Amino acid sequence: MLALGLETSCDETGAALVDGEGRILAERLLSQLDEHRPYGGVVPEVAARAHLQHLDRLIAETMAAAGRGFADLDLVAATCGPGLIGGVFVGAMTGKAIALAAGKPFLAINHLEGHALSARLGANLPFPYLLLLASGGHCQLLVVEGVGRYRKLGGTIDDAAGEAFDKTAKLLDLGYPGGPAVEKAASLGDSARFSFPRPMKGRKGCDFSFSGLKTAVRLAAEENAPLSDQIKADIAAGFQQAVAEVMADRVAHAIALAPGTRDLVVAGGVAANQTIKTRLQAVADRHGLAFAAPPLKLCTDNAAMIAWAGIERFRLGQSDPLDFAPRPRWPLEDT
Ligand code: KG4
Ligand code: ZN
Repeated sequence: MLALGLETSCDETGAALVDGEGRILAERLLSQLDEHRPYGGVVPEVAARAHLQHLDRLIAETMAAAGRGFADLDLVAATCGPGLIGGVFVGAMTGKAIALAAGKPFLAINHLEGHALSARLGANLPFPYLLLLASGGHCQLLVVEGVGRYRKLGGTIDDAAGEAFDKTAKLLDLGYPGGPAVEKAASLGDSARFSFPRPMKGRKGCDFSFSGLKTAVRLAAEENAPLSDQIKADIAAGFQQAVAEVMADRVAHAIALAPGTRDLVVAGGVAANQTIKTRLQAVADRHGLAFAAPPLKLCTDNAAMIAWAGIERFRLGQSDPLDFAPRPRWPLEDT
């Protein structure tokens, strides 16, 4: 089994060749950080043009690195949503063109399904498992019951967790992308200096909210301006601590709502955060669940997880027509 996966839904242009055992035979991933840095965030039009400019070359390099041609493929899988639609179009059309030219099945992959199944790439993780997906665009808790069977327990009612990190970094002028910058600053800070709210903590259910926390960070930044490096570090630490506590609380609620799950899995860029990971590990331990954080390069956006989701669906006899329409919004439950 050999799958080519393409990822273009946000600011990473990716191509990967994955086999049936979940081995990544070759991959190329190009981050557009430098293109978007001047704007302090991802600009959709800039992203789409960059995907268009680089994707063909990255695919050719990936195939060459593995010494394979399109004729060797069993399927072509491309992210077809949700995401920035200009970029999604680039990957979807490229994937369809290769599938058509080479006479191979095409799989239109939901980007979130890619994240949801990434923990099974090269690992023997049985269904069902509990998934916390926390990235720049998404923050939700799901029970992954099987391929195509995702039960949402809760999600954010306003910002995504990664978005909150990015906005906090912007407010504190820590640079872009925000998550790693906030984590770095926080490592030098005192998380007790500012007492930030813990939105949704203790509330019924598994929903998240980060806009109140963001406002509290903004007020703290304004009240203490001009900000010394130490105050920035203290605000970053207080913010990160609040997010970690809220996530631990929400996950504990989710565990109670998903009896029978033995594994807690995190995915999305926020899963890179060590303070958050440590908190989640403690929650998992307390409830007798195994905690799995896939390797960082599989947690963040990548094409290998798209190829893998294609393999998982193809094994169940699924494929998609070449007139499948890319979708800017595509809830995982509709997969
Ligand atoms: O999954 P991802 O690479 O892309 C999508 O959004 O789909 O996630 C990126 C997000 C950004 O918001 C980034 O600030 C956040 O993940 N992030 C982090 C860390 N590294 C990346 N957030 C907190 N701590 C980190 N170390
Ligand atoms: Zn993502």
